[in-house]
Amino acid sequence: MVAETRLSPDNLIWPIFVCEGANQRQPIPSMPGVDRLSVDLVAEAVTHAKDLGIPAIALFPNTDPALRNAEASEALNPGNLINRATRAIKQAVPDIGIMCDVALDPYTDHGHDGLLIDGTIDNDATVDILAAQALVQAQAGCDIIAPSDMMDGRVGAIRQHLDQHGFSDVQIMAYAAKYASAFYGPFRDAVGSSSTLIGDKRTYQLNPSNSDEAMREVALDIAEGADMVMVKPGMPYLDIVRRVKTEFGAPTFVYQVSGEYAMICAAAQNGWLERQQVMMESLLAFRRAGANGILTYFAVEAAELLQQLNSA
Ligand code: PBG
Repeated sequence: MVAETRLSPDNLIWPIFVCEGANQRQPIPSMPGVDRLSVDLVAEAVTHAKDLGIPAIALFPNTDPALRNAEASEALNPGNLINRATRAIKQAVPDIGIMCDVALDPYTDHGHDGLLIDGTIDNDATVDILAAQALVQAQAGCDIIAPSDMMDGRVGAIRQHLDQHGFSDVQIMAYAAKYASAFYGPFRDAVGSSSTLIGDKRTYQLNPSNSDEAMREVALDIAEGADMVMVKPGMPYLDIVRRVKTEFGAPTFVYQVSGEYAMICAAAQNGWLERQQVMMESLLAFRRAGANGILTYFAVEAAELLQQLNSA
């Protein structure tokens, strides 16, 4: 009766890694318990998530290395892995929300989120491609476009491009406060960009020492038309989650990223932490900090546990 915040399956968004082939389930060593799934298996897994009450999933591709190039041309292919997965899920599970990342890192041969011209990111050329990428994803059936690239002006450009092509109902969740973080390591293994990434992303992602700068980024994304904003990583940035919620009141999401997931799994495997308790405490803490929703690799496990607790 005195609990101020609650966690329910409808607060959770489940990120899924997709790979080529059929009947493929590829373990990701730095993310124990998370597998890349081929399109046929994704549709099955999403059916289970929907039955547990999870309202949305987020898709990330492990693109064939042979298709990666300097122009990220595969990002604009209507038949690329993400768009095929989106169509299959829409058909199998019509009422789950599908969120797709907008960024070029799964498609570039250098692993950066934007185009490199003479070794530096070309912001404006990248924004044009991102808007086109968002449109092919919307055409495939994506409900929520999630720009994770941190280029300046991309939210406004994507919004305008979607509206011009009749997709004003497609929502935008901006990775608004995205830090240049070492906690993304296992994710880059999962999408296959860690071995190719040259340099780091500090010229376009936020400096971990800054909080006011994050508020300015959030303000810009909201002004450009973001429907929802996100803070990322999660647990080391709960102060940012609280500030965003308090200062903007917009629907606020947080991403419990791959490195946070890996830390909890590793400690639990060693018997140093109690897995389920730490998982639930970390998710509840995001809610207390002000997050309306949480992207987490624990989504299915947490929703299963919540269902058991409710029926007990
Ligand atoms: C790509 C992207 C990243 C994540 C989500 N989208 C990695 C990065 O910026 O290098 C990280 C997610 C995670 O670590 O779980 N733009």
